[in-house]
Amino acid sequence: MRRPVIVGNWKMFKLISEAVQLVLDLKPQVVNSYHAEIVVAPPFTALKTVNDRLEGSNIKTAGQNLCDQLGQGAFTGEISGAMLKDLGCSYVIVGHSERRQYYQETDEVVNKKTRAALNAGLTPIVCVGERLAERENDQMEIVVGRQVRDGLSGLTPEELSLILIAYEPVLAIGTGRTATPEIAAKMHKFIRGLIAENWGNQLSENIRILYGGSVKPDNISVLMAESDIDGALVGGASLDATNFAQIVNYK
Ligand code: 13P
Repeated sequence: MRRPVIVGNWKMFKLISEAVQLVLDLKPQVVNSYHAEIVVAPPFTALKTVNDRLEGSNIKTAGQNLCDQLGQGAFTGEISGAMLKDLGCSYVIVGHSERRQYYQETDEVVNKKTRAALNAGLTPIVCVGERLAERENDQMEIVVGRQVRDGLSGLTPEELSLILIAYEPVLAIGTGRTATPEIAAKMHKFIRGLIAENWGNQLSENIRILYGGSVKPDNISVLMAESDIDGALVGGASLDATNFAQIVNYK
């Protein structure tokens, strides 16, 4: 049985005071929600304060990005996995489509960041997903296949068992256009098949694959009803405590 994971990716939103207000509003609304892992990914600047406010609660935190280098060193402006861990994070988002698109992150970088996250004891949430033009040209399996194979290349079965994958078709991000549950489920099944081919059936059965892209309180239940969808990576709707709590409490 795969335990669902609901992650709120706050992207570049929320000053510290706003972040605190959001988690203070969220906490009581999910206090009894143990059916799912609940994760929020504030901006780096708010992580420490948010983690302090969440201590002892059932809400965990994620970084939105990390440096691809192991250990420490002269990498001005970068944040290491160990630093995220030190702030109290348990997860980190890796290879989000916005990082691939605006900051030229390649599958090779995604691979290095995934390893850096594992090395620091963080759970990487590795994002994959085709762009609109790639879907229109029916390239989604080629693109996502490459992202999964190259992004996760060389991971041992033990390492693979520790990661989460998030499938986010770019056409659905921030547009209000969710992929239909059937389209999402088909891609999740495809990804699970790739994991089976490369790492075996047992790992493919156990790995959790989240869906992201315009997830809202009114579409989460139909998405979660698909057997291959194990959770959600929520952007816009996670910026409002009530909306995000409704998504967490989709049952
Ligand atoms: P939206 O939920 O705003 O479409 O964003 C999805 C996303 O990119 C989450 O990482």
